[in-house]
Amino acid sequence: MEIIVVKNYKELSKLSAEVIAEVIKNKPDAVLGLATGSTPIGCYENLIEMYRNGELSFEQVRTVNLDEYVGLDKNHPQSYAYFMRDKLFNKIDIKPENTHIPNGCAEDLVDSCDRYNHVLSVLHRDVQLLGLGSNGHIGFNEPGTPFCALTHITDLAESTIKDNARLFNNVDEVPTQALTMGVKDILRADKIIILASGKNKAEAVKAMVKGPITNQCPASALQEHENCIVILDEDATSLL
Ligand code: F6R
Repeated sequence: MEIIVVKNYKELSKLSAEVIAEVIKNKPDAVLGLATGSTPIGCYENLIEMYRNGELSFEQVRTVNLDEYVGLDKNHPQSYAYFMRDKLFNKIDIKPENTHIPNGCAEDLVDSCDRYNHVLSVLHRDVQLLGLGSNGHIGFNEPGTPFCALTHITDLAESTIKDNARLFNNVDEVPTQALTMGVKDILRADKIIILASGKNKAEAVKAMVKGPITNQCPASALQEHENCIVILDEDATSLL
């Protein structure tokens, strides 16, 4: 793991966007693995700015997202499909048909996972962007998930439901299940960038970089990846 500490969220966002932009400049049809949540929003804003300045084109880029809530239609404002259109896809020149997000509203969710695994087997990721859950999750691989998991249906941990309740009217509206890429899928990307910002991530950061490699902290699996960049702001390093 290469650990880079920056001063604040603004710098973390800028640096992560620069790393992704570099991948796209070297390979215009790169496959990007993308994340939702609060952390990557600044990174996406920087990428949008580079597009608007004419520095970067997403015309040939393909994307695969990490996860989606079960039961939220792609037009639901809290769905990750909606998030990606709102925060990135609608603001750049990416082709909608080149973007992929698990379908959490399919009648047969097991089939939906199988289809997503097929997409992942065809689209080899040049880079995977990750946020870090306060409980150490990556994607929605909650503590205890075996590292050999591929895309699967998962029950969200109580702590994740509480963390994500801020985006819903109340905690009861937060879906209790999601479809997520597995840890094994995540590790298949050529390069991984994981971002963590804020003191509420400090404990998970410590377990990820200093702790044993254990599925009690899914992010600790990244210690075994050959090309993983960890970008942290100072607050997130407060327990290191
Ligand atoms: C999102 C995802 C999650 C988040 C994590 C951190 O697609 O897979 O693992 O990255 O829950 O979320 P934020 O950034 O909101 O703190």
